[in-house]
Amino acid sequence: MDCVRMKFSFFIVCLFIFAFAFAVCRDTPLCIPSERETLLKFKHHLIDPFNRLSSWNNASANSNCCQWAGVVCNNLTAHIVQLHLNTPDPGDYRFDDEGYVKALEAVASRRSRLGGEINPCLADLKHLNYLDLSGNYGLGEGKSIPAFLGAMTSLTHLDLSYTGFYGKIPSQIGNLSNLVYLDLSFAANGTIPSHIGNLSNLVYLYLRSDSYKLLFVENVDWLSRLSKLEYLYLPGANLSKAFNWLHTLQALLSLTNLNLSYCTLPLPHHSQPSALNFSSLLSLHMSNVSCPFVPKWIFGLTKLVSLDLSNNGIQGPIPDGFQNLTLLQTLHLSWNLFSSSIPDSLYSLRQLKFLRLDENNLNGSISNALGNLTSLSELDLSNNHLSGNLTDQIGNFEKVVILDISFNSIGGTLPISFRKLSSLKYLDLSKNHFIGNPFESLKSLCKLSHLGITDNHFEGAVKEDDLANFTNMNVFHGKENNFTLQVGPNWCPRFQLTSLDMRSWKLGPKFPSWIQSQKNLQYLDMSNTWILDYIPTWFWEAIPHASYVNFSHNHIHGKLMTTLRNPLSIKVVDLSRNNLYGKLPYLSKDVNWLDMSSNSFSETMDDFLCQKQHKLMQLQFLNLASNKLPGRIPDCWINWNNLVVVNLQGNHFIGNLPPSIGYLSSLQSLNIRNNSISGIFPTTLRKNNQLISLDLGENNLSGTIPSLIGESLLNLRILRLRSNSFSGHIPNEICNMTFLQDLDFAHNSLSGNIPSCFSHLNAMFEKNKSSDLFIYSGVTTQCTGEDTAISVFLWTKGRDAEYKSILGLVTNVDLSNNNLSGTIPREITDLDGLIYLNLSHNQLSGEIPPSIGNMRLLESIDISRNQISGEIPSTISNLSFLSRLDMSHNHLKGKIPTGTQIQSFEASDFAGNNLCGPPLPTNCDSNQKFLVTDNIGAKWHEVNWFFVGMEIGLVVGFWTVVAPFLIYKSWRYAYFSFLDEMLYKLKSY
Ligand SMILES: *[C@@H]1O[C@H](CO)[C@@H](O)[C@H](O)[C@H]1NC(C)=O
Ligand SMILES: *[C@@H]1O[C@H](CO)[C@@H](O)[C@H](O)[C@H]1NC(C)=O
Repeated sequence: MDCVRMKFSFFIVCLFIFAFAFAVCRDTPLCIPSERETLLKFKHHLIDPFNRLSSWNNASANSNCCQWAGVVCNNLTAHIVQLHLNTPDPGDYRFDDEGYVKALEAVASRRSRLGGEINPCLADLKHLNYLDLSGNYGLGEGKSIPAFLGAMTSLTHLDLSYTGFYGKIPSQIGNLSNLVYLDLSFAANGTIPSHIGNLSNLVYLYLRSDSYKLLFVENVDWLSRLSKLEYLYLPGANLSKAFNWLHTLQALLSLTNLNLSYCTLPLPHHSQPSALNFSSLLSLHMSNVSCPFVPKWIFGLTKLVSLDLSNNGIQGPIPDGFQNLTLLQTLHLSWNLFSSSIPDSLYSLRQLKFLRLDENNLNGSISNALGNLTSLSELDLSNNHLSGNLTDQIGNFEKVVILDISFNSIGGTLPISFRKLSSLKYLDLSKNHFIGNPFESLKSLCKLSHLGITDNHFEGAVKEDDLANFTNMNVFHGKENNFTLQVGPNWCPRFQLTSLDMRSWKLGPKFPSWIQSQKNLQYLDMSNTWILDYIPTWFWEAIPHASYVNFSHNHIHGKLMTTLRNPLSIKVVDLSRNNLYGKLPYLSKDVNWLDMSSNSFSETMDDFLCQKQHKLMQLQFLNLASNKLPGRIPDCWINWNNLVVVNLQGNHFIGNLPPSIGYLSSLQSLNIRNNSISGIFPTTLRKNNQLISLDLGENNLSGTIPSLIGESLLNLRILRLRSNSFSGHIPNEICNMTFLQDLDFAHNSLSGNIPSCFSHLNAMFEKNKSSDLFIYSGVTTQCTGEDTAISVFLWTKGRDAEYKSILGLVTNVDLSNNNLSGTIPREITDLDGLIYLNLSHNQLSGEIPPSIGNMRLLESIDISRNQISGEIPSTISNLSFLSRLDMSHNHLKGKIPTGTQIQSFEASDFAGNNLCGPPLPTNCDSNQKFLVTDNIGAKWHEVNWFFVGMEIGLVVGFWTVVAPFLIYKSWRYAYFSFLDEMLYKLKSY
């Protein structure tokens, strides 16, 4: 009995010891030496810049590889079963459709990622079931996924996304029959091998592809074998040949999440059935697939929680079918062409948390029923045509975090119920017609971090109290309203802004000293804010992170140099239109964009330009126009190789153009007009073969116009040599400049004929005419992401005007006020895209070519004060856009042709000839001749101008509306994706 008991006790004790040992083992299994060797070998082939695998070493204290970073062993067998070697994403874009292209960049920028190669010895880990190498962009280096992975049949989880592999998926992957989870996103192109269909245990399949659509799903039959599949992500794949994709996928009875965004789907879309099985689907993402309607079968997916159909060009009203999808929490219909009002049926979707209808053509006012959506967390109605006032029901959105109704036509005062939106962090009301003082309704929203109220009709005084609760405010954009900031001299705001735009507020006359507290500012626009003061010395040091500063259009005075202790180092600086004087400031090499135009800087620019620099300056845009800069332009351009736009017009420069300007190999726009530059045409410019716009007008240049222009400057679109003393012939080489659209040689002493080869100036043909409004230079500032448009003063319509927003459309030939002789070449009338033609004040003779009627776009023609004879060709009445015409003081004779336009010009436009008929009072039957200069027909004249003005107005209006919205949008996304990386747009004055 005892023995039995003893044996039993012994057994119990053994059991305890065993259990104890077992328990200890469970916590710290001792790793198997051969597997440790495998890991070390594997590590040996990796590059690990941040030493993440420092624990992987042979030191005896560290010999248990089960405790190494990222390694998991089985508690019982001690075999290595999991390797977690992924590099996590800073912002996890991987399941975010919009950011999926950015994902690559984000991943690529991560510094702790592993590189090197995946050694085949990894396959020796026979018990490994979990392998995550994602995010280690350096592993693949564009090679295809190694085939040996197909031997690791114990794997249930394999993640090679963002590993830099790229190429065909090896068919051996199909051997991994235990796989439950497979992610090869951004790691493959070519056709997906049908062997993937052997992975019958797969539940998760992620195969995101890049934007080049080089991952092909040629047929989907293999998918039908994946009967356990729940998550299928194929964004960016090309399914154009997978004609039965829809029928195959609907038969996957376990499928809950389907993402086909950015896919190329087979055409035609309309053969889609009206009902499909898809019984289990919870999430369907089909954005960017160019399906121009909402497929009917979607309305049968009654379990759907998330639906994304954005950016498909869908037209017509928002269908009522959405109301069937009562469980929807996320509905993205952005970037389509929906053109109804928002149907009330949408407001019956009470579960909605994320509703995005932005970037459509929705109209009408927002109904009270909107208030039913009490679960909303994000509502985006921006960029539509919504009107009316905001309903008081907006106060029901107590959970709303993001509310964007910018770029609509909503008016009225802000409902006081805004106060209830206590969760609100992002509010954008910009570009609407709101009135009143919004801070009444907004001032209690203490969680707000982004407030956009720009471009409304808001007004009133903004006091310290109104801003006191905004302790989380980060971005505050309030420009273009009628606000006056009324704060005490010692006000210390409780927010720390990174971006502040108060353009056109009344902030002055004192320089706002509270800026001193905003240490994190990156973007600061205080242009046109009535500041009448110095820039204090502390300012430049108070905002060390600034990359954009704009104080233009104020009355800032004083010597800028004396307030600057260090060279300016802000990327974009705009101090134009102030009263700054003295010396130009020193720049650090980081400055990218500098506008100091329209000030009173009056000391030579020698120090500015010739300061000792060890590194190349980054400056791309330099505008010093309309100052009083004296002396010679210094010959120190060699360090400023990045300059693209240089504007020195309207100063007091004398002497020759310095040779080193020729080193500006990126230069696209050079404007030195209206100085006193002398000498011959600067031959150094032949090296600036990227030039698009060259303006040397209104100087004292002399000699001939060299043929090198037409040989080297073949990209020129604008060539302006007006008002110099150039003599000799117009070189024929000019005709090689096939992009030339503005040619102005007026007010020189040019002689000889007008070259007949002008008919080679291709850009002045209607069929070749640019339809781009702007002529962009290649200046893209890192902090605005925007190209800078070239602006030029052109003498058209008898006056000088600065062209920028429609410069791309202007075509102009002005050879007036020279000594040109010979006839008007018939070939010039081939330029049927020409808008302005001025040949006046020359010695031209012969007749007006009858083909002048071909120049159908002409708005203005001046051939006055020549010796042109003959009759006015009747074809001139074809010129239906003509609003200016001057043929006076020639030897023209006969009857002025009749036509709708012609008789509307003034008699003086025909004076000094032998012409008769209206608008001249001379009757053609009689022979009386007298000059008349009264205003017959002036009324018509005005009407013409009105239409022309309206046309241009439309064009300009389009750009002031559309361009900013594109940018604001990117702002917003940038803000939420990269708080520390700012994209900003330049002001376009
Ligand atoms: C090993 O044991 C730990 C707890 O000690 C447990 O969390 C873990 O899931 C176990 N791992 C395996 C592979 O069984
Ligand atoms: C896939 O990528 C590889 C490597 O970049 C390239 O050589 C190959 O042409 C691509 N294949 C396809 C089908 O685009």
